[in-house]
Amino acid sequence: MRKHLVLFVLAAGLATLPAAAAESSLTGTWALEISFAAGGSRGQTCALQQSGVDLSGSCVGDDGSTLDFKGQVEGSTASWKSESEWSGNPITMAFKATLTTPEELNGTFELLPMGMKGTFSGRRDPGGQAGYDAALTRSKTAGATSFPAAPPAPVAQAAAPFASAAVQAKVDALLARMTVEEKVGQLVQLPGFSGARPEATLRKGGAGSVLWLNDTKEFNRLQRVAVEESRLHIPLLFALDVIHGYRTIFPMPLAMAASWDPALVERAQTIAAREARAAGIHWTFAPMLDIARDARWGRIVEGAGEDPFLGQAMAAAQVRGFQGTALGAADRVAACAKHFAAYGAAEGGRDYDSVNVPESQLRNVYLPPFHAAARAGVATFMSAYMDLNDVPAAANRFLLRDVLRKEWGFQGFVVSDAMAPASLITQGFARHGRDAAYRSLAAGLNMDMASGTFSRHVAGLVQEGKLTMAQLDEAVRPILAVKFALGLFDQPYTDESRMASVLNDPAHRQEARLAAQRTMVLLRNEKGTLPLRKDLENVAVIGPLADSREDTEGSWILAPHPHDAVTVLEGIKAKLGAGARVSYAKGPEIRRDIPSPFDRDPKPAQTPAEAEQAFQQALATARAADTIVMVLGERQDMAGEAASRASLDLPGRQQELIEAVVALGKPVVLVLLNGRPLSINWAAEHVSAILEAWEPGSEGGHAVADVLFGDVNPGGKLPVSVPRAGGHAPYYYAHNLTQAPETAPGFTSRYWDGRSTPLYPFGFGLSYTSFAFSNLKLERPEIEVGETVGVTVDVTNTGEREGDEVVQLYVHQRAGSASRPARELKGFERIHLAPGEKRTVRFSLGPDERRYWSSAEGQWVLDAERFDIWVGGDSRATLHTVLTVNP
Ligand code: BGC
Repeated sequence: MRKHLVLFVLAAGLATLPAAAAESSLTGTWALEISFAAGGSRGQTCALQQSGVDLSGSCVGDDGSTLDFKGQVEGSTASWKSESEWSGNPITMAFKATLTTPEELNGTFELLPMGMKGTFSGRRDPGGQAGYDAALTRSKTAGATSFPAAPPAPVAQAAAPFASAAVQAKVDALLARMTVEEKVGQLVQLPGFSGARPEATLRKGGAGSVLWLNDTKEFNRLQRVAVEESRLHIPLLFALDVIHGYRTIFPMPLAMAASWDPALVERAQTIAAREARAAGIHWTFAPMLDIARDARWGRIVEGAGEDPFLGQAMAAAQVRGFQGTALGAADRVAACAKHFAAYGAAEGGRDYDSVNVPESQLRNVYLPPFHAAARAGVATFMSAYMDLNDVPAAANRFLLRDVLRKEWGFQGFVVSDAMAPASLITQGFARHGRDAAYRSLAAGLNMDMASGTFSRHVAGLVQEGKLTMAQLDEAVRPILAVKFALGLFDQPYTDESRMASVLNDPAHRQEARLAAQRTMVLLRNEKGTLPLRKDLENVAVIGPLADSREDTEGSWILAPHPHDAVTVLEGIKAKLGAGARVSYAKGPEIRRDIPSPFDRDPKPAQTPAEAEQAFQQALATARAADTIVMVLGERQDMAGEAASRASLDLPGRQQELIEAVVALGKPVVLVLLNGRPLSINWAAEHVSAILEAWEPGSEGGHAVADVLFGDVNPGGKLPVSVPRAGGHAPYYYAHNLTQAPETAPGFTSRYWDGRSTPLYPFGFGLSYTSFAFSNLKLERPEIEVGETVGVTVDVTNTGEREGDEVVQLYVHQRAGSASRPARELKGFERIHLAPGEKRTVRFSLGPDERRYWSSAEGQWVLDAERFDIWVGGDSRATLHTVLTVNP
């Protein structure tokens, strides 16, 4: 078994001396059998030495490693703690045991902070014969194939400077001087709506943070009040949603995930952080890490899509980008992993609706990106709005304490989503505001975003003893620690003179263009329609999104700035130059049927007559051109928060328009601008080239033109499956195989009114060149359950252009303690190959990739089973081999 499990096992051999056996001594050699709570057992040989009430010992495991311990026997029980390390992280092992006879002992153990538990028993073994190997042999003989696995590693100390001893000492000193009211103030985040006058509150130390304000001068003015006019001079933390750029806008996060390029994602968020910090923002409410398998849910655009493995890579990259290697780095901001957790599984894809997911799905699918962010050192978390399995996330003790703090060892702080503490009443959970404040704070929430519930009730709860001072201190402590780690006590103000040069740094726009290029996914390209020739003379660019700066940028742009994104029309014009005729028609406008609460468009909707006129004009424009580029999809307010849909069709009259334009018989290219997968079934059969450009940001139009005209060879891949209809949602590739798999004869369709396969599969994307995969090899065909194996594959560029391929590794476990998905992504790498070039790509498949939470075992397990392995360019990869994992 892997080393940390061995360490754990080794450390578990301790005992106590009950009064009844007081004369007995534990001194001697013992064979111990360790039983994990979830089943399965291990053994090892331990030499123990008892002297009075002191106990010491050392155990030897199968890999020859040893672990020493010391303990104490007190009366009839002995409590035991042993400090060790696990993958570089400190862990504490706590034991209790009873000597039942002078020859036998048994007890319980717990591994902290993970909370992994079990029991052990031992017998004297004078010859030292029954060691680890014998125990393992016993397991093998008994036919065990499912083994308890160590949980994913917790947060390493080095990743969390806000938890360092130096910072904690400062926090302690400050806390000792704070009144209850000042402590409560730190838990309060004030809405910075324009016109708000929070000065009196700040002077009293009544707020720890302000959000939704975005004015550098005002930041400095308010900070001066907090720092210079309050008793304890505690600086404010200014927070804003900087989701995909501040001044320079990058593609939306779903698009960034389509790059399959974590280094690019990290660079983009580094730039976002640099600009935001220059403007005075300390803390961004990003990244959003909600796995989304339901394209109807509007917020799918804010995350990395449907897959937890890709999601983890994107989570860690974004945290590194925002925060740097450790919180407090210059030009960086604190990040916030949101919305904890499983918000993306909203019933019916309706935003804010309840979520019901079993623990196995939670741990295998929805939590891993959050855990990756915690391990990357994210300073804060945001609890989600909805209730998870009937308990609202803002007061969900299981999420906020058991998982986040105890298992993962997270030491930053948790902010609620906006108004969420107050919503506990609406959600039928809390009786009133006081109850809401008590239950959310007691459950582990630190900061109340804008609802005023904490500011109204927490001090009273402490005064009447319902909340203890220790609970209050526990809530305040990490907020102060993050402020210290960010350096705000030393430098609370923002240098207003620096901002313009940072925000207008041309290197930022260049990176935004590169990012947009790398996020584009070529969905269809019949008969080499693309790339288009650069000597085209007469092109029509048509569609409601073709010249829309706002929709090119995408949603969540809170920084006040001129919307100056390059549109697709502008990008094409710039590419073709003055010699070409580039005509444009918008066609009928598209609008939400029910306006958005965040609506920015004050114009009245088109009348049907105006829409018809626009339709005819678009058709006439297309008719007069030789080549037509249609830019269709969704407006930015059709995806995002409060932007769910029942249908995944092209909204408005866009479908009708594209059918009419294609009927003209001219070359047509469809460029999609959208934040969610769209069921473009008709276009997928009738339009010869389709480019998924997402919401591509400031440089989007240039990037689209770069791809359309072949200056860039597209290499993005879908981070979500594209379903054929809204009725197919939720849809994802990593589903379990069931009694009648789709592939079984006679069961080719699950619906009688259409195919149930995706229109485009997860991981899919074309290129202007082609790639071949060959020589898939396992470095060893058989391994033991705790071992790692290398998987190699040769990838060759078989076409005539240089290009990128995203090499993807998928795994399927054939049997186990619980059913496993048909396929799961377990490795990927985006590579660049010249024509004819061949490269060997290597992946590593170890316990981290094979471990899963088993519903049957109620535990993390590793199974000794056979595994199908495929490598290829999307989730339908066919190059296959089989790995055998032995007990
Ligand atoms: C959203 C969060 C966001 C917060 C602050 C909420 O409505 O759900 O994602 O960070 O507002 O703007």
